[in-house]
Amino acid sequence: MLDHAARADLDFVLAWRRRWADTLYPALNEQVAEAGPPPADRKAAAPIASAQPVYPWFAWSERASQKALWRAVSDATADTPAIVLPAAPQGALTLNPDLALPDWYTDWDIHVQPGGVWRADASAHVYELGAKLVMMGGNDDYAFHTSFVTTCCNGLDAPTRLVDLGCGFGKSTWPLKRAYPDAEVIGVDLAAPCLRLAHSKTEGLGLAVQYRQADATTDTGIEASSVDLVTSTMLIHELPRPALEGYFAEMVRILKPGGRVAVLDFQYTGDPVRDHAVTEHGVRNNEPFMPGMMSADTCAMAEAAGLVNARWVAFDERGAGRLDSKAWPVRREWHFPWAVLEAEKPA
Ligand SMILES: C[S@@+](CC[C@H](N)C(=O)[O-])C[C@H]1O[C@@H](n2cnc3c(N)ncnc32)[C@H](O)[C@@H]1O
Repeated sequence: MLDHAARADLDFVLAWRRRWADTLYPALNEQVAEAGPPPADRKAAAPIASAQPVYPWFAWSERASQKALWRAVSDATADTPAIVLPAAPQGALTLNPDLALPDWYTDWDIHVQPGGVWRADASAHVYELGAKLVMMGGNDDYAFHTSFVTTCCNGLDAPTRLVDLGCGFGKSTWPLKRAYPDAEVIGVDLAAPCLRLAHSKTEGLGLAVQYRQADATTDTGIEASSVDLVTSTMLIHELPRPALEGYFAEMVRILKPGGRVAVLDFQYTGDPVRDHAVTEHGVRNNEPFMPGMMSADTCAMAEAAGLVNARWVAFDERGAGRLDSKAWPVRREWHFPWAVLEAEKPA
């Protein structure tokens, strides 16, 4: 239970982020529109956007509200009891204390979260609460992740094994197990604190999931050609190019022939101002590989690794979930340009 001061801090940060999204971002768009002919693309939008009167507020607020978010969340979770692992779990937790975390993972405080998600047990609690504010309260019940599974991971015929790469504290893994209760579901992550929290929470939900600490871009330790579906949500924009290539290679290795891939992440929308804002978001939010991932031909990379029919489709988190094309509904406010990379391993 949060005390009054913690609640007030969190409410303030949430309100700030909402005003950034629904007031400052539209104001920036309006000022760019009034400044002259529409920019041709995100690179042309950059100097025009940064010359507008509202831009300093827009840019500063994005970074400052993210820093305030972690401070408020750290204060609010400071007294959270240590994670208690269940005595008689249904699933399993396999940690690897000898696993060398890659430099590209530890060199940055991802999302500006002090210490990232891997340094201490407390960081998993901080991330859990912080993720709710990052989604501006729109994913408190994890309906976003449920929509991803119900609209992007449906229709599998009696799968035996499903793998969620970069599972965090498990919110992307639970809906997979609920959708396919008879399948073995494995969540993989680099961060031991997240996996410990995932294991504890998953058991509390009465779900049997196998969690393992491994690098999804090199070797998950999962048996070759054994997996019906590999998913990731919000992982691949955190990977530098060589790691992204390794990720697709590992995915192909573990998939059964005919197995499927559903990767939820971000794509450019074709709206110059929005695409420019997303590029700067990667910089301001300590997500240094995000612009590179969105500029790369990830479908070609997936196919070079051995997948076929690689395509991105748009994802509308407000309910519809997967859309049939790479066209997002027009929205005035800021939103993340969610998209899903789908592909198959040849049968
Ligand atoms: C933004 S979080 C997303 C977590 C979860 N999928 C969700 O949707 O809530 C990204 C996660 O990917 C993990 N991660 C990053 N690089 C990884 C890698 N090479 N192998 C496994 N996990 C990785 C991070 O530790 C983090 O938990």
